[in-house]
Amino acid sequence: MNKGEVLLQGSNVTKVFSYGKKTKAAVNEVDFAFHEGEIISIVGESGSGKTTLAKILMGLLKETNGTIAYRGQARKLRNHADRKKYWKDIQAIFQDPFSSFNLFHKVEKLLLDCISLRGLTLSKEEQFNKMKEACSFVNLKFEELYNKYPFELSGGQMQRLMIARIFMLHPKILIADEPTSMIDACSRSTILDMLLKRSENNMTIIFITHDVGLAYYVSDTIYIMKKGRIVESGEAEEVIINPKHRYTQQLISDVPKIHEAWNLA
Ligand SMILES: Nc1ncnc2c1ncn2[C@@H]1O[C@H](COP(=O)(O)OP(=O)(O)O)[C@@H](O)[C@H]1O
Ligand SMILES: [Mg+2]
Repeated sequence: MNKGEVLLQGSNVTKVFSYGKKTKAAVNEVDFAFHEGEIISIVGESGSGKTTLAKILMGLLKETNGTIAYRGQARKLRNHADRKKYWKDIQAIFQDPFSSFNLFHKVEKLLLDCISLRGLTLSKEEQFNKMKEACSFVNLKFEELYNKYPFELSGGQMQRLMIARIFMLHPKILIADEPTSMIDACSRSTILDMLLKRSENNMTIIFITHDVGLAYYVSDTIYIMKKGRIVESGEAEEVIINPKHRYTQQLISDVPKIHEAWNLA
């Protein structure tokens, strides 16, 4: 792919957690550069620091060390207003949909917030149409849900609502943290749809997964993460067909599907 402008760039990014006297670097001296319109996968086994990195990227956790630049400028998230502005451009889907909603807001309010977050001024009818369109994109009926609280929805409905919100927010960067592991089949295909349609809206997608086969299938660029460190990164094709790090080789050897694709190529 022709890479666009660098949107999000990190250098030496580190997050240390303390447990009493012990400390642990969950993310350790990580460098990255994510470009406009690029689909990136971050691959690693459970506990390798993927979610911690995702939270740092979102500005939900503060890095202990290192620098992060957004569009060439040092990222400054000093207060809620800064974060709110930043979240116009960067949104996440986490494994647990309950973590991403204000549970005291009804569905209609949750969706209306997306319109105001984008700074759009719409008539009542335009608002209604936008919310309806976003819901039907993920196979939800707005008329049936608008007056409900998140806890009145099923897990699958919540996940789809989360994706409807992303669809409305139209972020520049979407972080999807293991979205296929708990999500229902409908949401999964909607996410894959979004991935495939990204060229239309030039969305940058950071796809976090433990499944190297899926990463190969969906992404332009792969970062392999082990024990908090990025041990290998590069074009998906190159990383999978010509893995340099032993750990990458081991991950790939665990996926028979890729071996087959490899032998056929
Ligand atoms: N809030 C936290 N406090 C302390 N330790 C944490 C916290 N979040 C994650 N960790 C630890 O950091 C490591 C990486 O976790 P995580 O980022 O969730 O990995 P992954 O998403 O790759 O499974 C794990 O050892 C985990 O126990
Ligand atoms: Mg995780």
